[in-house]
Amino acid sequence: MSVTKRNEADVGYVEIDNPPVNAIGQSVRQGLLEAVRWAEELHLTRVILSGKGRAFAAGADAREFDQAPLEPHLPDVLNAIDESFVPWIAAIDGVALGGGAEVAMACRMRIMSPKSQIGMPEVTLGVIPGAGGTQRLPRLVGLAKALDMISLGKPLKAAQALAAKLTHTVEDDPLEEAYMVNTEELGCIVPTWELPAPEHDASLITKARATIAKKSPQQIAPVQAIDVIEAGLSIPFHEALPIERAAFLELKTGDQARALRHIFFAERAAKMPDSIKAETVALDHIAVVGGGTMGAGIAYALLNAGLRATILETDADGVARAKTNVEALIGAGLKRGLITEERAQGHRDRFVASTDYAQAGDAMLAIEAAFESMDVKKDVFAKLVDALPKDAILASNTSYLDINELVANLSDPSRVVGLHFFAPAHIMKLLEIVRGAQTSDTALATGFALGKKLRKIPVLAGVCDGFIGNRILARYREAADTVFMDGSTPWEVDEAMEMFGYAMGPYEAQDLSGLDIAHANRRRQDATRDPNRRYIPIADRMVELGKLGRKTGAGWYRYPGGNGKVDDPIVADLAIEESHLAKRDRTDYQAEEIKERLLLAMINEAADILDEGIAQNARDIDLVTVFGYGFPRWRGGLMHYADTLGAQAMVTRLRELSQEDPVAWKVSPLLERCADSGTKLADARPRS
Ligand code: 3HC
Repeated sequence: MSVTKRNEADVGYVEIDNPPVNAIGQSVRQGLLEAVRWAEELHLTRVILSGKGRAFAAGADAREFDQAPLEPHLPDVLNAIDESFVPWIAAIDGVALGGGAEVAMACRMRIMSPKSQIGMPEVTLGVIPGAGGTQRLPRLVGLAKALDMISLGKPLKAAQALAAKLTHTVEDDPLEEAYMVNTEELGCIVPTWELPAPEHDASLITKARATIAKKSPQQIAPVQAIDVIEAGLSIPFHEALPIERAAFLELKTGDQARALRHIFFAERAAKMPDSIKAETVALDHIAVVGGGTMGAGIAYALLNAGLRATILETDADGVARAKTNVEALIGAGLKRGLITEERAQGHRDRFVASTDYAQAGDAMLAIEAAFESMDVKKDVFAKLVDALPKDAILASNTSYLDINELVANLSDPSRVVGLHFFAPAHIMKLLEIVRGAQTSDTALATGFALGKKLRKIPVLAGVCDGFIGNRILARYREAADTVFMDGSTPWEVDEAMEMFGYAMGPYEAQDLSGLDIAHANRRRQDATRDPNRRYIPIADRMVELGKLGRKTGAGWYRYPGGNGKVDDPIVADLAIEESHLAKRDRTDYQAEEIKERLLLAMINEAADILDEGIAQNARDIDLVTVFGYGFPRWRGGLMHYADTLGAQAMVTRLRELSQEDPVAWKVSPLLERCADSGTKLADARPRS
């Protein structure tokens, strides 16, 4: 039963009951329509509509979006509610989102509990409101607010909804309050569809268009949302609805909506694999070794989750730096209104920085975020083994180092797991959980439990150089450097990737993180690098010249006065010089080819990562690329995008490229298998 109904005398109670979040699927639509007829037949004086459990309604059931729409359609159901002679009141206790908010807006009145939220996040799923939201919302809150809410998709808290006049009142018990509403007063409220549309205001429309061009470039849904809102301002309500519906239906089966749905569901499916069966250790007090940017960010994330955090440092200066770093994050949180003064004090009370490992003597988890050196990390682990309980879990935040080597000296290597955070650790949602050869299920389960507490997206990874994300990144940069050396410039490469949808290209991004990190990695890899692999020396030349990125005022770009980036002809000349020395002909690559090469390089590497079992499935690689590396969310992640190209087409092109360089472009066996069998990467599994 997805909708229940009962009446007490002449008051009807209708409840949406579709766990877990009352998504509005076919049976809910049917139930609501029947409730309209039922209330009319009984001549009830009001219907009070609520949602069972934690949500009023989370919107249309997005799982139905791949199928043809089934009757009754939501716009018809909502028109029936809006036009009924029995007035409906939405008693909202929880979220009313998308179609859920549209149902509420079709009611004569809305009453929200203080913890509730209401909003139209459809654009985040690549669609626009499809059941009258683009027409009812402007009638209720005015043009400016409606444009803002629909084109940006950000929900309002109850107090904000009250200020916007989207809810009539905010009450602790919306059901009780709905019962108390005066019948005469209720009868005087004009049905939403009969309200006049706001006046057309070209300046507001232009402003909304400019905002989304900046905030969500290349995304179609926000643009369409504004167009449909604008169209509705000058025509009657019932003429505007079909325009909205047509746009919604077209968008919902388009590439962007499919990609965004894929990421939405992938995010929710990111959980500990069923095969891992173990209890976790207690997670109330966690030690973090190292109070630099990463360690402090991890500590702040722990504090935000209500945990105790102790940063362990090597000397007094390190302790002072750790305290300053954490206090700066608390200060920034306060300034941005993300935490209250009271919470900030709670953070300070639960935070310790010390050189004395005994301070973490009762911590059942330690995360080392020390300098990226095998010897340093081994030393830290030895100290942790001495200071912490013998069954405490020891995690390394290493980005590249071999976890199996890291544990070589430990008597119990099963305690060690990789927990790879991304900077800034309190903001970035991705957490790679790295399973070493001997990592226990308890250690893995603890990693996943921590991920959940910190509201991260956990992805299980195996051991290899760079795990999932940094291994793909290394190949991305190698392909970029090759294109650069063979004929392009960093700015042409960056522009090509920005056109694809990255917020910034690989060179600008590297200027931000610093060229020295990758340089240290290359030196680490010198001993094991395949001698047949082409080595592009330009990044080394940059380091020799002291061009380490933004922090030195110049990297791939120059940053005069620490401000905006400027193309640097000296950098362009380096490539010309190096290719001349290497006696290579230069090619004038066009943006399309640059993009193709960089993406194919990453996809081919990712296919190997999947084939080797470093990643469990393609979906996890999508999550890593979107949440850790800026791959455009609306393209659904690297592997989802690859499936839009098709394995056969990719293999054909990779074979062409491998004629140029058989080592760098060696076609992944998994891609070849997918091409041969017509399998999508989404369904591909590691080789057995
Ligand atoms: N359709 C289908 N399933 C949905 C859903 C939806 N709209 N919203 C949530 N779910 C599912 C999730 O996939 C998850 O399923 P699982 O348990 O099998 O993994 C389950 O409900 C619980 O969701 P969360 O894990 O996200 O639970 P939270 O409590 O963390 O968050 C929420 C709840 C805030 C409602 C969040 O799920 C959310 O933001 N949902 C999407 C809201 C949305 O975008 N609505 C618009 C839909 S499009 C629309 O309405 C078109 C209309 O205009 C015609």
